[in-house]
Amino acid sequence: MNNLKPVMGWNTWNTFGEKINEELIMQATDALIETGLKDAGYEYIIVDDCWSIKGRDENGRLVADPVKFPHGMKYLADYIHSKGLKFGMYSCCGTMTCALYPGSYNHEYVDAATLAEWEVDYLKYDYCMQPKCADGQLLFRRMGLALANCGRDIHFAACTWGEDETHKWIGSTGANTWRSTGDIFDSWESVKRLIQLQYDILPFGGQGCFNDMDMLIVGMCGNGNVGLGGCTWNEYKLHFAAWCLLQSPLIIGCDIRNLRPEAKEILTNKELISILLDARCNRPYIVKKVNFDDNFPVIVRVLDNGDVAVGFFNLGDDAANMWVALDDIGIPSLQGKTVAGKEVYTGEEACVTNETLLKCVEAHGCAVYRLKIADNTRI
Ligand code: GLA
Repeated sequence: MNNLKPVMGWNTWNTFGEKINEELIMQATDALIETGLKDAGYEYIIVDDCWSIKGRDENGRLVADPVKFPHGMKYLADYIHSKGLKFGMYSCCGTMTCALYPGSYNHEYVDAATLAEWEVDYLKYDYCMQPKCADGQLLFRRMGLALANCGRDIHFAACTWGEDETHKWIGSTGANTWRSTGDIFDSWESVKRLIQLQYDILPFGGQGCFNDMDMLIVGMCGNGNVGLGGCTWNEYKLHFAAWCLLQSPLIIGCDIRNLRPEAKEILTNKELISILLDARCNRPYIVKKVNFDDNFPVIVRVLDNGDVAVGFFNLGDDAANMWVALDDIGIPSLQGKTVAGKEVYTGEEACVTNETLLKCVEAHGCAVYRLKIADNTRI
């Protein structure tokens, strides 16, 4: 049985790139537990690109780099499993990975079998170096089928960057998630762009195959492989809230061995994680853009118990009055209904005036409410 909710974990790429090894992965495994991230729901430890040698063995199998991973990948799987966590690895549908290590093209079945033998639980499958004769759909269907027949339940995380109209075909490949955008970088511009790129593709995500907005940069603070200038803590808060509301997997990318307290507070926000993992998995929708402006999306999700999550996201460079009429989210005032609830980061009560939820949101900030529908006693 594959995952029916967006997954949560940690991945090597954002901070470490090719500088990965056994010791780092074991330390990160321990850190996930010691920091409380495991208790908050993070469970996958994922080794990204650059883990193998540059060729295959005489049986055509992938081989772990003996310098980086002296005891092999099964040893790591055993360690991670012994801590109650799950193990993720990386390959690519082309002849080589994006960092030019062997890809799985024409080796899909042997690679799926190898991963199963190593007791891998998750495969991130990338989109570089495809030969012209085989398109993405074919190659992802092929790996999807190979995984379905490998004898182990392996989460299939497609990393197609939204290329080649991925949304039209990814759901038929067996993938559990699909990367709907290009790579994230540790900068405000990158976060803003990835959010804006979701607007038109939200209907194609949801349970079965969630849109993956790429790994989190929360807490990178300008360090590491994809570290640009870094973001402010408010920008990281907006980033995390958007990923939760939009049902993206939460794959941490900072160095969790040195997790900053501010980052921990954001990454373990219980209200946001419960919205992300809501049992009903209803899809998010954009109810409006304030002033029809792409910088001011109001994002909504209807939750399992009938609550409604509403997020005001100010992607603009000045403070902005953001608002939504309750009528526009299915709560008609003429039927005597209103809402009550709190903002998830500050605990501030939602402000409803004239049947309208409103909030002045600072530049690059957000306000996300979990709202209960209530009788309006003023009517
Ligand atoms: C692509 C992916 C990244 C990362 C690198 C590794 O760019 O989108 O997430 O896996 O490849 O080379």
